[in-house]
Amino acid sequence: VTAAISTDAPVLITGGAGFIGCNLADKLAREGCRVRILDDLSRAGVEANLDWLRQRHGSTIAFVRGDVRDAGAVHKAVAGARAVFHLAAQVAVTCSLSDPLQDFAVNAQGTLHVLEAARAQPQAPAVLFASTNKVYGALSDIPMRDDGGGWRPCSAELADAGVAESRPLAFASPYGCSKGCADQYVLDYASSFAMPAAVLRLSCVYGPRQMGGADQGWVAHFAHSALRGSDVEICGDGQQTRDLLHVADAVAAFAAAWRHIARVQGLALNIGGGPEQMVSVERLLAYLEMETGRTLRRTYAPTRMGDQRWYASDWRRAARLLEWSPSISWRDGVRDLLAWAGLRQGAEAVACA
Ligand SMILES: NC(=O)c1ccc[n+]([C@@H]2O[C@H](COP(=O)([O-])OP(=O)(O)OC[C@H]3O[C@@H](n4cnc5c(N)ncnc54)[C@H](O)[C@@H]3O)[C@@H](O)[C@H]2O)c1
Repeated sequence: VTAAISTDAPVLITGGAGFIGCNLADKLAREGCRVRILDDLSRAGVEANLDWLRQRHGSTIAFVRGDVRDAGAVHKAVAGARAVFHLAAQVAVTCSLSDPLQDFAVNAQGTLHVLEAARAQPQAPAVLFASTNKVYGALSDIPMRDDGGGWRPCSAELADAGVAESRPLAFASPYGCSKGCADQYVLDYASSFAMPAAVLRLSCVYGPRQMGGADQGWVAHFAHSALRGSDVEICGDGQQTRDLLHVADAVAAFAAAWRHIARVQGLALNIGGGPEQMVSVERLLAYLEMETGRTLRRTYAPTRMGDQRWYASDWRRAARLLEWSPSISWRDGVRDLLAWAGLRQGAEAVACA
């Protein structure tokens, strides 16, 4: 019989300086956890998230600069942790196409390093993995129509329910492959090694502290562009639709998955805003124009490879098992994002003056 892991032991968040990771670190630290972060700071701008965490929580947050491709660094970071939230990743489909080897090494092999490090502990910590809706592929087999408000399935049943975990996996880009591979390894370790591990398949998460760019994080990217008054480039017809999820709801799902790990061990859960929070790119831009009072000049580029015209999470499994559901409407959430992004741009302007 192994002793229970001390409740004083830290939780590890890989990618904890990133957008979702720092919001999760903040939540867990506010709830009294010691938090260890492993991050290589490869995402531009995330040092500001670390500074923010340090200002709020001081030494409750321990930062280790390291790369998940380095098995030794991962073993050190996992040692003694009572839970591991594995969020560090190469996050952009575009970069996975230009450098598939790097994408694989970070996302697939990096996840195996985390799982092996967890397995090597006297008692394996809970491992919660941030997977993605991209594991369901382009969904090009689903008949869809655009009724003026964006693409959605012709089947009212599917449009109303969203995509469930029973949907077969289909990887449509190197990023889809590397994240999907990692997703499957996490589920396999839960069964092969009885590890308390689970997968959260996130769709489109947005909110404060998101350093969105043209390659990834489109809601924040367009919000930053709207505030700056810059032109926006839309890949595709702008009618592609997504279920938006505010980051506060996303991190609540991670915390609930840890709390209920015995119930969700070995399971994948779809986590997103669901059919009630559907927004097309054009609709988001119109909302940003209204909120900022600016007109955004659009240019159009070809659709990106493997891009889904529509995706909505069926989050009912997560609701049942985690006692969780999205609580923030996309309009309120985007206003929250704009408020933070406006403050950030203001601070940058002062710093440059
Ligand atoms: N934001 C979304 O909408 C969304 C959707 C689906 C899945 N996800 C997944 O959620 C996780 C977090 O995404 P995010 O939006 O916070 O992205 P992010 O880029 O803000 O955060 C990722 C963090 O990982 C770090 N990192 C990257 N490569 C690393 C490496 N080799 N070693 C150590 N650290 C490394 C980065 O510096 C960054 O701080 C990712 O796994 C991503 O695939 C996010």
